[in-house]
Amino acid sequence: MKSDQRLRRLVCLTGFMGSGKSTAARQLASHLGWTNVDLDRRITEAAGQSIPEIFAKKGEAEFRRIEHEQLARLVAEAGEDQKPRIVSLGGGTVAQPQNLALLRESGAVLIWLDCPIEELLVRCAQITDRPLFRDEASFRRLFEERLPFYQMADYRIDSSLPPARLVGQILSLGIFGKVTV
Ligand code: S3P
Repeated sequence: MKSDQRLRRLVCLTGFMGSGKSTAARQLASHLGWTNVDLDRRITEAAGQSIPEIFAKKGEAEFRRIEHEQLARLVAEAGEDQKPRIVSLGGGTVAQPQNLALLRESGAVLIWLDCPIEELLVRCAQITDRPLFRDEASFRRLFEERLPFYQMADYRIDSSLPPARLVGQILSLGIFGKVTV
């Protein structure tokens, strides 16, 4: 019973860059009256630098260290105050084994926003603040490398849907109504 409750108090959205995690998490949290946490935002606040700056000045390894630290912090906070949270993870968060282990131990629910690569390419080509979007070939390669990690999520949602329908699909998974706040 206890782990069942914990399971539904921390719901994390995962998926590749451009899959709509931040928007969906914000809308879901507002709909449910839950707290919204954006892991990328936590990282930039902790570092006092933007994500492209962290990658350029400190490198990806340091970015991953801060990412893990911030994830551990937010999992601990969720355990302490028991408030339900919707978290948008970064596109690479679950590809780090220590992060996946932490999420599993915490009883978090993982929802994969799955979007076709062609659609992701269109979306990400218009945004220039993603250090791991260098060119189409490496983007496609990274997508393939990440798929096995996303496939470990508890639920998969087609995120090529318009945002309102996407949120509707997540709500209809039936994992929110059972929360005891
Ligand atoms: C990353 C995705 C980004 C951000 C960082 C690294 C990745 O998050 O965490 O640039 O490794 O795929 P979004 O998926 O929110 O763009």
